[in-house]
Amino acid sequence: MRNYDLEFLKRFSIVIAILAIITIGLIIFAAFLQNTIPREVSPAAAKRVEQRIAPIGAVYAGATGASAQAAAAAAAAAAAAASGAYGGTLDGKVIYDNLCTACHTTGVGLAPTLDHSHWDARIAQGKDTLYKHAIEGFTGPDGGVMPPKGGNAGLSEEQIHATVDWMLSNLK
Ligand code: HEC
Repeated sequence: MRNYDLEFLKRFSIVIAILAIITIGLIIFAAFLQNTIPREVSPAAAKRVEQRIAPIGAVYAGATGASAQAAAAAAAAAAAAASGAYGGTLDGKVIYDNLCTACHTTGVGLAPTLDHSHWDARIAQGKDTLYKHAIEGFTGPDGGVMPPKGGNAGLSEEQIHATVDWMLSNLK
């Protein structure tokens, strides 16, 4: 190798080394900036977090709280009245076909099917008892579980009466 070639190599490596040092410096500076500048939070992500950390119940305190609570209760009652189960129908057959049939046609879980043999002893208790058991739920000696209102709390007492009446007049 000639002397001036060596000289060139030396200079060239120095330039490369300086560039490498500048590069590393820039990388460190960028990392530093990345940590100091607060990150942008997308509004969607913020909303998701807020939903996740929202308290399950709200606390109502003071007079405004009491009126807010009363308003909420009134709104809930109005909504429940407006959307009576199965459109508020008093047609026992409609209610039976939508709900009670699941147990009382198949006999699943010891539910009495619509046969006289299953009902005559129950009818002997009196209709009011049948209504009461259908509304409040009932577990007989055999351990079958009749859920309150057949499991649909949206049914009114009149609707249950109508359904029990329909069942009793359709025994085989
Ligand atoms: C999840 C099943 C299930 C559904 C749904 C269901 N029942 Fe029952 N029901 C039963 C069972 C089980 C019994 C028997 C309980 C026993 O005697 O141990 C019963 C018993 C009854 C009895 C007789 C109670 C007594 O005193 O002997 C009536 C009345 C009755 N159901 C009405 C209804 C009506 C009306 C509906 C629909 C609105 C309904 N059931 C929906 C399971 C069900």
